[in-house]
Amino acid sequence: MREGKLNVLITGVAGFIGSNLADRLVAAEHRVVGIDNLECGRKDQVPGGVEFHKADIRSKDIYPLFKGIDRVFHLAAKNCLPDCQADPVETMDINVTGTANVFEAARLANVPRTMYAESSAVEEGDERLKGFYAISKLTDARIAEGYRAAFEMDVVSLRYFNLYGPRQDYRRKSPPVMSKLIIAFLKGKQPVIFEGDDENKRDFVYVDDINDFHMLCLSDDRVKNKMFRLGSGESTSIKEVYDTIVKVMGVTPDPIMKPRGAEDPPVATLADWSEAKKLGWAPKTSLEEGLRAQVDWMKAEFKKGNIK
Ligand SMILES: NC(=O)c1ccc[n+]([C@@H]2O[C@H](COP(=O)([O-])OP(=O)(O)OC[C@H]3O[C@@H](n4cnc5c(N)ncnc54)[C@H](O)[C@@H]3O)[C@@H](O)[C@H]2O)c1
Repeated sequence: MREGKLNVLITGVAGFIGSNLADRLVAAEHRVVGIDNLECGRKDQVPGGVEFHKADIRSKDIYPLFKGIDRVFHLAAKNCLPDCQADPVETMDINVTGTANVFEAARLANVPRTMYAESSAVEEGDERLKGFYAISKLTDARIAEGYRAAFEMDVVSLRYFNLYGPRQDYRRKSPPVMSKLIIAFLKGKQPVIFEGDDENKRDFVYVDDINDFHMLCLSDDRVKNKMFRLGSGESTSIKEVYDTIVKVMGVTPDPIMKPRGAEDPPVATLADWSEAKKLGWAPKTSLEEGLRAQVDWMKAEFKKGNIK
């Protein structure tokens, strides 16, 4: 292996964030080992050059794959919220037991640093915290604490806000809002927006900006055992997202406006990314630029007949 090149293992490598990260790591000539059970991920998204293993993070069969690994990015999870609500036991099995199993594999192989995906869902208020996805991610944070305390492991928590960009998983039962709107326009259907969507705001951040932080985690020892909130630092309403997609796609807006359910009050999220800023990281992609890249990718998916 050439100097400065690392052995990096990604769980969830066939998913949205994992496959984008794999692209960056392969381009930088690191050796990349990827694990995914392909439950939601797509094998065709895993870049050539990745040593891919179809495996489940809950299985001890993954342990040998961690031998000689320098950095782990643990991204595999069950994360479609309605699916998590429908099956709390499987959510805990994958997101909690699976995460403990990945940490254990890293411990047994003496991996010097492990990054894992947290979520802003843990700080979106009491109602969101009653959801099983948020509970699982909150529990992961406690497990990380346990591994740091008991084994002096270097475990870095990446608290992602709302990531978007090419390969966002539009196939799930409840697709992320950007994918949902773009699909409606691609199919020539009227997109649905809800009353109050001008107050319903999220911190949306472009996936490759997050990759800049991932790359920094490889070699910057200041990340050791810290938690980083990763977002754009801007809270953008769903209405603004809608308007930007209309502009980027050059379509005529004609949405169906629906009343908002009481169980889904507007919320606003905003990442305080000051800890990441101290290390020299900053998001740099504008919403329009990022959406242009996502729209181009989704247009290509549509052309291939992948978007039904
Ligand atoms: N995308 C976001 O905006 C966002 C925000 C906050 C947190 N996160 C977290 O970041 C991580 C990556 O998210 P993503 O958007 O890339 O999700 P994704 O669904 O696109 O990718 C997850 C991958 O994990 C795989 N997987 C699921 N269960 C598995 C198992 N038991 N064994 C092996 N592989 C399994 C899936 O097949 C999929 O390829 C997740 O932990 C997610 O909770 C994402």
